[in-house]
Amino acid sequence: MGKHMEVVIAPKGDLAVLAADVIEAQLRRRPGTVLGLATGSSPLGVYRELIRRHREEGLSFSRARGFLLDEYVGLPDDHPQRYRNVIAEEFTAQVDWPDSQVTGPDGLATDLPAACASYERAIEAAGGVDIQLLGIGSDGHIAFNEPGSSLVSRTRIKSLTRQTREDNARFFDDDIDQVPVHCLTQGLGTIGEARHLILLASGAEKAEAVHQLVEGPVSARWPATVMQLHPHVTVLVDEAAAARLELRDYYREIYESKPDWQGL
Ligand code: F6R
Repeated sequence: MGKHMEVVIAPKGDLAVLAADVIEAQLRRRPGTVLGLATGSSPLGVYRELIRRHREEGLSFSRARGFLLDEYVGLPDDHPQRYRNVIAEEFTAQVDWPDSQVTGPDGLATDLPAACASYERAIEAAGGVDIQLLGIGSDGHIAFNEPGSSLVSRTRIKSLTRQTREDNARFFDDDIDQVPVHCLTQGLGTIGEARHLILLASGAEKAEAVHQLVEGPVSARWPATVMQLHPHVTVLVDEAAAARLELRDYYREIYESKPDWQGL
């Protein structure tokens, strides 16, 4: 579906509904859809809306497959911040999605490179990701591909930046020392193989990263910029996150005059 990077600027609640609409349409078309799931705050509104549609409108995930973007290394199985637990708590356990059909990289494996390679194989065996939800770090990371990540990287171990660990300390009693230093993450090359990328960002602290993502030069300095090379990207941002976009009026005009049949 050769499209461009589409930017939609709207209130946060509306953005969640738009993303949920894309996912619902895809699930109704193909119940065995493969969804790429992000953790963190950005997709929470989408998950809440999908849970509501499951409860009130019978939207089913019973045949869907889910792959997480990333996982902390070394957090115990039952740790509430282990992403595999976070996604169950916030989303998948609240709908009819069998636990065995949602997986993430194994941050507890004794052989981490082997766990990364087997994760890549699992995604491939499932036929690849149809829709990948993404957030963006204030330093421009997607998944945990921090600045300097190879633009063609695959699932591997990474060290988190101090900025990311500070940003995430809110989930660890505001104590940066409790935030793991290492993670396993899908690479930028891995993410780029998903057929539709939907990135959500809100708040002023994301404004610079969003500006770079959409308008900066493609560079490992701002890893999310690699998305400019992808044929089907939807960037859903609120006013605060859009504040530094130089062409934001143009993006608004394109979206407002877009024919209804086109969809995201
Ligand atoms: C989470 C992930 C990260 C987050 C990013 C933004 O699985 O891959 O890239 O999407 O750190 O986090 P929030 O949404 O909490 O601002």
